[in-house]
Amino acid sequence: MKGYFITFEGAEGCGKSTQIKLLGEALQKAGKAVTISRSPGGTAVAEKIRTILKEPTAGEDLEPETELLLFGACHSQMTANLIKPVLDKGGILLSDRFYDSTIAYQGYARNLGVESVKWINSYACRNLKPDLTILLDMDPEEGIKRAKERAGNAATLAGDRFDSEKLSFHHAVRNAFLLLAKEDPGRFAVIDANGSIEEVHQKILEAVHVYLGIL
Ligand SMILES: Nc1ncnc2c1ncn2[C@@H]1O[C@H](COP(=O)(O)OP(=O)(O)O)[C@@H](O)[C@H]1O
Ligand SMILES: [Mg+2]
Repeated sequence: MKGYFITFEGAEGCGKSTQIKLLGEALQKAGKAVTISRSPGGTAVAEKIRTILKEPTAGEDLEPETELLLFGACHSQMTANLIKPVLDKGGILLSDRFYDSTIAYQGYARNLGVESVKWINSYACRNLKPDLTILLDMDPEEGIKRAKERAGNAATLAGDRFDSEKLSFHHAVRNAFLLLAKEDPGRFAVIDANGSIEEVHQKILEAVHVYLGIL
């Protein structure tokens, strides 16, 4: 019995959390064992690291290199204690972001060296790769608008170290994701995230069918 590891990538507000839940429900209805996780996070240790990554620490900035290594640490914990055990049992692991975000945000947008980030990713994940990566693509301005509506006010957004980056950073992230998708078309399904929730969901179901032969 083969398990599947499916990741969701894309800018803040593009619909990852909304769509991962809908895909999880569809797979469950089809009788599959589904686990939903997120990066950074997903295990007890990785969730502790998430807090350091997401929330500002008073009196001390997080160095970009530290940030990158903390993501690596998260992915290492996730791989050993969550992803591999689920796949070994033939289950399906859905992750809200994974290491392609590290390449896009830290490698490209923060300029830490794409090859170094890729090396850290494969080291942290013991060469494990997602079977399918759903990239929800949209203009970052539209995504930020959605995320702000979700938060209810801009102050909540500004509290997140990544959401409060300037627009050029988010454009660099989008371009990086699209480049990664071009490099590995057998793994990436690029989906236009601008449609309605139901339209995007249908496109994701189709991608899961075409790429993995399930559903
Ligand atoms: N296709 C869509 N059309 C309109 N609004 C959407 C759509 N998908 C998600 N949303 C809304 O946009 C906000 C951000 O979606 P979310 O799934 O939280 O994105 P992400 O997890 O990628 O940041 C939420 O309030 C959500 O309800
Ligand atoms: Mg989300």
